[in-house]
Amino acid sequence: MALSHNIRDKTREILAAQAHIANHVFNYINFVSLKCTIQLEIPDIIHNHGKPMTLSNLVNALPINKAKGQDCIYRLMRILIHSGFFIQTKINENEEEGYLLTPNSHLLLKNEPLSLAPFVLAQLDPILMDPFQSLSKWLQNSDSTPFATAHGKPLFEYAGDEPRLNYLFNEAMASDARLMISVVIKNGRGIFEGLKSLADVGGGIGTVAKAISNAFPEIKCTVFDLPHVVEGLEGSNKLSYVGGDMFKSVPSADAILLKVKYYS
Ligand SMILES: C[S@@+](CC[C@H](N)C(=O)[O-])C[C@H]1O[C@@H](n2cnc3c(N)ncnc32)[C@H](O)[C@@H]1O
Repeated sequence: MALSHNIRDKTREILAAQAHIANHVFNYINFVSLKCTIQLEIPDIIHNHGKPMTLSNLVNALPINKAKGQDCIYRLMRILIHSGFFIQTKINENEEEGYLLTPNSHLLLKNEPLSLAPFVLAQLDPILMDPFQSLSKWLQNSDSTPFATAHGKPLFEYAGDEPRLNYLFNEAMASDARLMISVVIKNGRGIFEGLKSLADVGGGIGTVAKAISNAFPEIKCTVFDLPHVVEGLEGSNKLSYVGGDMFKSVPSADAILLKVKYYS
């Protein structure tokens, strides 16, 4: 009796471990589904519909092969409901249901001023995802980053040579920074008070500096970044762009802003 209990416990343990591993392995389905949803503009289509949207209305509105529509979009939407991007609500007595956005998918709308869609699309682009396939290789070699292992050179050098990555990356940073700086300006005005000048070092295409300059017109802002990032960008009498290498020198100012994220 005790033996059969032990065997049952062991079997349960192994099945739980198998499920645990499968959940980890298939985690990528969450992010590829999110990417597909943004690429197909599903949040925008549902939002523009103006009321809960049925599956068939959604399939009709999507630029897809309709033969794949009903089944595949149903499954895709189930994943996204599960991950909190949409909800489903009853729309009539026939138990018909329609999809609605949640606050999470609102932040993915193309025309939402704080949209994070560019951030998601860049992060999930193969060029930024591939380095994560090289982690073990990178741990064994002397490359500075997994990005260099995957692509043969560091991220910012690659972006200087590849306009597509340069654009994708800068837009991603800008979309993420827009949200962050709006919160900082709203809740941390004291940080900027009394400053006459500020240099945003590694300031990308100037999203943060522009927001600071608009909120505090008395501050003269300089956006300092690599030459390929600021090339062709037009400033104003309150905001200027300077290209250079921060490891050599940075513009002088009352305050230096350095806002970074970790990148592979
Ligand atoms: C992670 S992004 C952050 C952008 C922006 N500060 C933000 O938070 O959204 C890092 C920025 O630093 C810039 N950068 C990298 N190396 C640099 C260097 N040596 N000199 C100047 N800027 C550099 C990149 O081009 C990029 O715009």
